[in-house]
Amino acid sequence: MYSGTFRGLSFCSALCSLLLLLLTGCGHGKKDHEYRIGFSQCIGSDMWRQTMLQEMKMELSLHPGAKFIYKDADGDNNRQIEQVNEMLKEGVDILIISPNEAEPLTPVVEKVYNSGIPVVVLDRKTSTQQYTAYVGADNYQVGKIAGEYIASLSDSPIDLAEITGLAGSSPAMERERGFMDGIAGKANVKLKVKVHGNWLRSVAISQLDKVKDQLKDVNYIFAHNDVMAAGARAFLNQLAPHRPIKIVGVDALPGQGGGLQMVSDGVLNASLLYPTGGKEAIETAFHILNNEPFNKLNIMQSLAIDSANVQLMKLQWNRINSQQHDIESQRSLLQEQRIVYNNQKIIMNIIVITLVLAIVFGGLAFFSLIENRKANRSLEAKNQEILAQRNQLVEMSAKADAANEAKFNFFTNISHEFRTPLTLILSPLDEMLKDDGKHGSENRSLKVIQQNAFRLLGLVNQLLDYRKLEYDNQKVKVSENDIVGFARKITDSFRHHAQKLNVNMIVTNEAKVIKSWFDPLMLDKVFFNLIANALKFSNQKGTVRINIRKDQDKAVLIEVQDNGLGMSREDAEQVFDQFYQADHAPILGSGIGLTLTKQIVTLHHGTIEVKSEKWRGSTFTVSLPLGHAHFSDSQLLHQTPVLPDVAERSRTYTADLDQLPDVAKGDVLSKPKEYSVLIVEDNPDLLHYLEEKLSEHFEIYKAANGISALQSAIERVPDLIISDVVLPELSGKGLCERLKSDFRTSHIPVILLTAQNSLEQQISGIHAMADAYLTKPFDIGYLLATMQGLIKNRMKLKERFTSDNESSEKAPIAKTLDHKFVNDFLGIVEQNLGNENFDVEEICSLLSISRVQLYRKVKALLGCSVADYILNRRLKRAKYLLTNSNKSIAEITYEIGFSNPNYFSTVFKSKYNSTPSEFRRQHLISS
Ligand code: FRU
Repeated sequence: MYSGTFRGLSFCSALCSLLLLLLTGCGHGKKDHEYRIGFSQCIGSDMWRQTMLQEMKMELSLHPGAKFIYKDADGDNNRQIEQVNEMLKEGVDILIISPNEAEPLTPVVEKVYNSGIPVVVLDRKTSTQQYTAYVGADNYQVGKIAGEYIASLSDSPIDLAEITGLAGSSPAMERERGFMDGIAGKANVKLKVKVHGNWLRSVAISQLDKVKDQLKDVNYIFAHNDVMAAGARAFLNQLAPHRPIKIVGVDALPGQGGGLQMVSDGVLNASLLYPTGGKEAIETAFHILNNEPFNKLNIMQSLAIDSANVQLMKLQWNRINSQQHDIESQRSLLQEQRIVYNNQKIIMNIIVITLVLAIVFGGLAFFSLIENRKANRSLEAKNQEILAQRNQLVEMSAKADAANEAKFNFFTNISHEFRTPLTLILSPLDEMLKDDGKHGSENRSLKVIQQNAFRLLGLVNQLLDYRKLEYDNQKVKVSENDIVGFARKITDSFRHHAQKLNVNMIVTNEAKVIKSWFDPLMLDKVFFNLIANALKFSNQKGTVRINIRKDQDKAVLIEVQDNGLGMSREDAEQVFDQFYQADHAPILGSGIGLTLTKQIVTLHHGTIEVKSEKWRGSTFTVSLPLGHAHFSDSQLLHQTPVLPDVAERSRTYTADLDQLPDVAKGDVLSKPKEYSVLIVEDNPDLLHYLEEKLSEHFEIYKAANGISALQSAIERVPDLIISDVVLPELSGKGLCERLKSDFRTSHIPVILLTAQNSLEQQISGIHAMADAYLTKPFDIGYLLATMQGLIKNRMKLKERFTSDNESSEKAPIAKTLDHKFVNDFLGIVEQNLGNENFDVEEICSLLSISRVQLYRKVKALLGCSVADYILNRRLKRAKYLLTNSNKSIAEITYEIGFSNPNYFSTVFKSKYNSTPSEFRRQHLISS
């Protein structure tokens, strides 16, 4: 499904890109290149040139892509040069220029032309041919038509005044020339006055004013443009208002204030049509830019307009104007239509795209709907499954809870049930113990019963307390009491046991009385537990310290410290966990005591912590907050509480501390110190602990290093050796190897005891020929069981050596050295059976060992004394000779090393319940 979605998404993104392309692509029709067209105007302020600009813009509107850059030099040559250079710098694709004066502007126009930019010269010219195209009327013709027209007006004398344009501009020069040619040869026409009007009305008036005296006879004026002509009319209207002077101008612009209007109004008598060429200049520019054919010279026609044709011209112009308007409005209409069309195209595209997208997304939606349905169905199935499993779990956990509850109820009930019989056992037991008329063993048995009954009662009580706290949410009822006195009382109840255990109990308190709020019927269990544990795990002659002090007036701290067994860090971390038992579990108990202790401290809003170090002891610290603000009102008891009978309540805790008399165990350990053990340990605490625990069952020898252990083993030949691995002088493994390779000690089982608990370490211990390898912390019970097992094995070995069964005598002995010893010993004995002087001294000297070593070795390997073994072998030999030879009793007596047949007979009878002769007879009868 995911791959499907991914495919769908990538398809969508591709589709979107395509649509975006369509959207961005549409709305743009065919577009002109973005040409930059520069136009440098010599002067832009007069009406003629404004008309020219308007025509240009109109034409440009047909080329929306083009950029039109327009600069007006305001009749200043230098400024125009500067502006052309600017345009060159900014970058134009073509330059249209109407130069102010020909000569000064020529170099810059040539520069542009030579730089590869086409130049269209408009209306006025430069003085060379270095341009791309020219647009404008033929100014010579304009001047000539003007001259001929004026000359044709009258046969009477025509005294002329000419007002020229700017002297350096080409139209002025050409019109002047044409005008002179137009009037040439006309006898009645005389040019009387000539002034330079610079194309401007004001200049024309001021120049006429300067020559006004010469104007007296002038009856015709030709001005190079209508602006100057109108100025001349105004001037003359003032100078000689009644003189009929005819004025002819150039331009004949249509519209308000234009030449046509002035002719029509009689301000001017005639005007020569002079088209601006704006439209044509733009047309030519685009031909050039688009590489289309064009004419270099584009000359526009001119004609004289006077009262005879002015109306026609006006009409014509109005028509053209209205047509122009129509074109304009159609153009804008077209533009609008185009915009509408483009918009519609966009909308259309959007609709198409939306439709396509809708179909695509619809398909995708449908696809994912199907996938979703599938996924939902499988999810629903899974949900159902989970729900069913959950219900099952809930049901199971409810059942488990109920079963747990039932179990706890059963335990609680049975615990309650236990209490009555226990009380009924304990009360008469008390009576019986008080009775003096019993002998020692009876009294001891009763004490054992009492001790165990109390222990059982203690366990039952703890179980019930645990139940109350854990399941019934028992609340504390606190009252204000002196915690020092309370703690001392409890401690005193242990004094007797501490003395018996040889443990020194010290209570220290910084203040005589410390008032604090607690529930005495609960808190006593905390003290009982902690002190009983401290005593239990103390060494003989150890010390238990109880210290009570305030912690900055905020809490009271009770520390119970012992210097006994201690715990590993892992044990210390878990010691308050429910039912946790440390590695010395058999002496710790049920594991419920410290859990209860912590619960009770927590109910008092206090804390309990333990610091412990293996073989160095433990310190339990209880901290209880002072005051009663942390208890609710319902928990406070304000009357003085009845304090519990501490001595009585402590009995279940002290029961564990009583020294248990030996009970018959039916194993090797129950025999009174028949076996000896050599303990090799350099840690005095552990050595002391092991001695204490093992001395009950074994004769103990001790050594603190490997060398003294080796000496002790050779001298004393113990039945078993327990050795630490890491030892000064000679390691436990080294010791083991030395012992096993010396035939005097090779038979002694060795247990290595070490903190190195890796598998490799254990294997290397076994390679050193250790019989067992125990890691610390070890369980004393497990150690005893191991010892017992090894001794039992040794006993089995003895049985093999000493058995009457001949075949078992040949059973292989695991250890070569022991095998060799037994063989040597048996060989010597067999060889000397007939030697009546044969004794232990002789064997010792033959085997090069001491009497003690011989005795111990034979005892260890064969399970009997040397003398017993020799006697046994002699009697067995006698038995053989009695049944398999005809030798007389006397002969047999000497052959087996007896000197006296009577003594032989007595000894034989004591062993086989019949005299040698009776034995022979019985054998003969049976065979
Ligand atoms: C306008 C104008 C026109 C004239 C032309 C000659 O600036 O003076 O009146 O016909 O320039 O270039």
